[in-house]
Amino acid sequence: MLVQQSKMAVRLFEDKEHADTYWKYRISPSEELIDKVLQFHRSNTNSANDLAVDVGCGSGQGTLLLAPHYTCVIGTDISPAQLEMGRKHVNMPNVSYRESPAEELPFEDGSVDLVTAMSAFHWFDHSRFLQEAHRVLKPHGCLAVLNYIMDMELNYGDCSETLNHICYEFYAGLQPFRNPYLRSSSFELYKKTYDSLQYPVKEWQDIFWVRKPVPLSGYIGMVESFSSFQALLKKDQEEARRLSQDTEHRLLHAMGVTSSETEVIMGVKYFYFLARKPAND
Ligand SMILES: C[S@@+](CC[C@H](N)C(=O)[O-])C[C@H]1O[C@@H](n2cnc3c(N)ncnc32)[C@H](O)[C@@H]1O
Repeated sequence: MLVQQSKMAVRLFEDKEHADTYWKYRISPSEELIDKVLQFHRSNTNSANDLAVDVGCGSGQGTLLLAPHYTCVIGTDISPAQLEMGRKHVNMPNVSYRESPAEELPFEDGSVDLVTAMSAFHWFDHSRFLQEAHRVLKPHGCLAVLNYIMDMELNYGDCSETLNHICYEFYAGLQPFRNPYLRSSSFELYKKTYDSLQYPVKEWQDIFWVRKPVPLSGYIGMVESFSSFQALLKKDQEEARRLSQDTEHRLLHAMGVTSSETEVIMGVKYFYFLARKPAND
């Protein structure tokens, strides 16, 4: 039952190796996508840019994108291994990290200008996080909740259709290992949450493409960072390695190349909602 599950944090991002895979391969939202968040936030003239908090920040790739736009940016996560990776790679003086559950944020009431959750909200206790975000946001502060559809697409020369067929088989092989807490679709969860949000100023976007050149090995690494791949890896390491190596070989063959450093364009379909806390709440 969701109600029972939601009382406990789902802790699947704790291994050091997993955190390392995260740092190496995880893609973050594009600058354009972050701009959408900033435009929404700044469209209210009373908005400020003192403090942004990125909840469920993982190893911090998305957190760093906020740094040029806020005086102080704090990433929070329950996984010490992810935070350690974030701290190791932080290169901006106004960014720091704190260990904390999304449902108990270590900030004063009304003290935060922007709360983001990038590819993380579906892991939280949804209603407790929303209450907590509401508590810490300043009046006119914004909540930005982003995620993407797991089925990334590849583009390479004229064989993209074949590549995507192979990719879909890869995802289908991982589907049985999807964590039950996520149920069948996080898209539905996000849309329902958006629909039920009581903030009068809000915005829903159901497709925002982020396209990025990556080496083929980077694409494989990204899929290997998914919790479903990690679940298969824990259950049957040999099978997990066989599945990803087999997929990589088939992709290389279809592309007519031998190096997994060959660049492909990886397309990721993001969806998100943005919402502004009213002044009088
Ligand atoms: C899929 S990762 C996303 C990380 C990062 N935001 C990104 O875009 O790559 C989800 C993160 O949420 C964290 N997480 C899961 N449940 C959490 C909770 N209840 N409170 C805080 N962090 C949580 C995990 O430890 C993990 O680092």
